[in-house]
Formats: sequence, structure tokens, C-alpha cells
Amino acid sequence: MLTKVFDKIENKSELQPEDLRLLLEAANPREHEIVMRYGLQTKEEFIGRKVSLRGLIELSNICSKNCYYCGIRKDNRHVGRYRLTADEVVASAQWALEQRFGSIVLQGGEIESPGFTDFIEDILHRIREMDGGRLGITLSLGEQSPETYARWFKAGAHRYLLRIESSNPKLYAQLHPANHSWEHRVDCLRALRNCGYQVGTGVMCGLPGQTTEDLVRDILFFRDFDVDMIGMGPYVPHGDTPLGKGIVMSSEEKYERLALGLRMIAVTRIFLQDVNIASATALQALRDDGRELGLLAGANVIMPNMTSAAYRESYKLYDNKPGIYSDCGETWSQIEQRLQEIGETILYDEWGDSRHFYARTAHD
Ligand code: 5AD
Ligand code: SF4
Repeated sequence: MLTKVFDKIENKSELQPEDLRLLLEAANPREHEIVMRYGLQTKEEFIGRKVSLRGLIELSNICSKNCYYCGIRKDNRHVGRYRLTADEVVASAQWALEQRFGSIVLQGGEIESPGFTDFIEDILHRIREMDGGRLGITLSLGEQSPETYARWFKAGAHRYLLRIESSNPKLYAQLHPANHSWEHRVDCLRALRNCGYQVGTGVMCGLPGQTTEDLVRDILFFRDFDVDMIGMGPYVPHGDTPLGKGIVMSSEEKYERLALGLRMIAVTRIFLQDVNIASATALQALRDDGRELGLLAGANVIMPNMTSAAYRESYKLYDNKPGIYSDCGETWSQIEQRLQEIGETILYDEWGDSRHFYARTAHD
């Protein structure tokens, strides 16, 4: 059965949902490697062996939400909460510019308030004054009103990441308290698109209760929503959350979760071809070189963490989050070297918009 799917990929025939399921379930090492090879081959064909960089600034871990899986959920009293000052954020953005990263992501817990909207707007204005429009700016600040999205867009942001977490509303309901709405999240994705943002979404894989059919539907959701960017990663339990309490993963479970995360990247690349796919940090939580493996599976974006060491410990969405002391400063040159070693070319000083975005807007 699987060999027929491999033949279809070779012949460039259109894959069906059932084919995607077989590829995602190709867990034996030999088949897994073939899926990886097709992921990388498709990236090579549509994008090249190139990596775009997004310097990640985790500007606040204060969140009004209570997602059952996340370490910085509102009710986790074990986290020291912080918010960077606008000066600190602008200084980080400047560092990214000096490193020639080309683009940055401002990420944080979800706060819907006039004060927070002003704070972000002010930061965006100040970054634009500092960089003369040179940096790409992505926001990842959760669900907001269409007005807030519009203000931030006008102030200089042009990409927005909002993961749907799962395309299955029932599974979503199991992972979130009743006042978190899947439908509202989809409305937000639509509002972002209408505003003019390049929209990114994504899911976690390996969630309790999640089936391969769910993952297939996730990939179809990406296609139907016509997204420009995708960020996916394995779910990694966090001990201070309702979903992760008391869970210790065996090394076998870690490996399986990593492998599934990698197949999800490869299959998404094979099916959607020209979108930007980020190699999530959660891959690295499961294995040191997880992020590099993500690139070899077909991802073409990495998000080096630029949050200063003083705050990193407090921005732990999951246990064993890597890079608590790395990615910034001296260690950046080590990452550069690792990327070169695996045959990737780093795109410096480029926004790194997805080819899909250009293709999509050319039709609009
Ligand atoms: N494991 C993996 N990813 C997680 N996220 C939150 N908690 C976890 C976890 N325990 C992801 C969610 C969110 C993104 C910012 O981090 O998908 O959208
Ligand atoms: Fe908040 Fe996002 Fe974590 Fe949910 S996943 S608790 S919205 S930071």
C-alpha cells in the first residue's frame, strides 16, 4: 500500500487523504526515512535548501488563557510572570537586525486590553523608526479583536501566527476550558487574513486522544485555509499543567513523538509544497538536534530564541524546553555552523516570505 503512495509521489500524482494517513503512519525506520527523503526532496524542488530566520522575542508570559497543556497558563502559580519593557524589545530587535536575521517574531501570552494593544503598537512604531522598515515583523499574541489586529498591522506588523492547535473542534474542546472557543479562533484567522496579514497557523501532534485521521484533517485544514506559514510541533507534557501532570515520557515515547512530528512536517511539505514551515523548538525538547531534523524533513524556517536568559526560564510552555541559555550571542555562531553542516544555506537580511504567499496574492 505504502509503496503505491511512494509511486504517486514519484509520479507527482495528487495525494488523497488516505495516502496522507499511510505516510503519517509509516513508523518503521526504513519507511520513515523514505518519507523524510521525500519531504526534503520536495523542499529542495520548491524552496531550495534554504533556511529563513525569525528572531524570537518572548515579550511577556502573562496570559489570560488556561489551555490545559501549556506551562504559562493563567492558573499555573509556579511561574514568575514578566513583561519586557518596550526598550528591551526594541534592543532585541536591533540585535536581530545586526545579526542580519531579516525578520523577528514578537510572541507572548494572550492579553486583550487597551493597555496591551497600545504597548504593542508603541513597540511596532519604535521598531519601525529604528530599522527603517528593514525587519520582517511577525506577531504571535493570540486572539484579539479585528480592530486590534488592524491597528497592529497599520503600525508595521505584516505576519501573524495563530495556531488552531487541532482542526478537530471536539479534540480542541478536550484541551481547553469551556470558555475557549474553536470557532472564535477560526474567526480570528479569517479576521487576520482580511486585514492583510500573511497568516500562519499550526497544530500540536501526539496529543492525548488525537488520531492519525485528525492529523490528516489538520493538513487539509491548512490547505483549505490557504495559509502561508505553518508551525507544528510535538506536544511535550509540562508537569504543572492538567494535561501533563505526573507524566514522564520514556525514551521510546520521546522518540515516537519526535518521529511523528517529523513525519507531520514531511507530509505537509509533500502535500502543500510551497508554504513556509517552521521547525518548532518543541522538536529540540525531544532531541538535541530535533530542529535540524525538522529542516531535513522539509521545514525551511527556524526561530532562534533571542529572549534574554533572565526571562527564559519563565517562558516554559513545556518541560525540557531547550535554549534556556543558548541561541543568543556566541552560541548563534554554533547554530550557524550546524546548519551549514547539514547542507542548509541561511538567508540573511531577507524577510523570507513564503512562495505560497506570492502565488496566492498574484491570484487575488
Ligand atoms: N507542548 C508543545 N507545544 C506547546 N504549546 C503550548 N504548550 C505546549 C506543549 N506543552 C504550543 C501551542 C501554542 C504555541 C505558542 O506553543 O501550540 O500555540
Ligand atoms: Fe496562553 Fe497560548 Fe499558553 Fe494557551 S497556549 S495558555 S493562550 S500562552
